[in-house]
Amino acid sequence: MRFAIISDIHSNLHALMAVLEEIGKQKADSIFSLGDLVGYNAFPSEVLDIIFQRNIPSIMGNHDIVCCGLENPIWFNPSAREASLWTRKRLSEEKKRYLCNLHNEKMIHDRIYTVHGSPMSRDDYIMDLMDALNCFQHLPDKSIRICLYGHTHLPAIYSDHGPSHDCTHAGKHSLSIRDRYFINPGSVGQPRDGDPRASFAMLDLEETTIEIIRVEYDVTAAMKAVLKAGLPHFLAERLQVGA
Ligand SMILES: [Fe+2]
Repeated sequence: MRFAIISDIHSNLHALMAVLEEIGKQKADSIFSLGDLVGYNAFPSEVLDIIFQRNIPSIMGNHDIVCCGLENPIWFNPSAREASLWTRKRLSEEKKRYLCNLHNEKMIHDRIYTVHGSPMSRDDYIMDLMDALNCFQHLPDKSIRICLYGHTHLPAIYSDHGPSHDCTHAGKHSLSIRDRYFINPGSVGQPRDGDPRASFAMLDLEETTIEIIRVEYDVTAAMKAVLKAGLPHFLAERLQVGA
């Protein structure tokens, strides 16, 4: 079984299309999204159209819950707040209803759990190994071997034993069946690790490997679309540098 794991698409249609093309080449058996389908970039409605057409299941991100109107963006920075309110106006009632009904977490396999931020909250950031080690005790079931999460926009592989994996190294990382993991595939639509290429992960259960894959996409077109939509300049500039 080969899972393609995508997260934090954030209305970036150009990045999503490039990632889906690569996933096609990777021969994934299924695709799963870890939330934040919308927010920040210029194509919320178009991104949701693709998610619906491809029947890609997702959990709810902190931007999804704000953009559908269930929460207000009181904790967002000014650019995120402006983009979330802009997004609300561009989503149909049907699309907002879809976002409102997303689950907070989900088992996608008998031992693989998915959350947006952490097992405690979709708003938590797992930034380092210490954060991850704290979170193992909050998994809802001891049989869970892998918790997939997003939200930080930083690819990461943390194990409860042994050293962390260096995600800047291309290629497959072997997973030990004795260990448990927190794994972040990075962000499709707004990477923040200094690499502007879109990021996703391929999880192979037969090989017991995970690979973080980076994909070039038309960053300039995505930036132009942000500016044309009248969204904050900062949101375009950060795409160029992956920050
Ligand atoms: Fe996000």
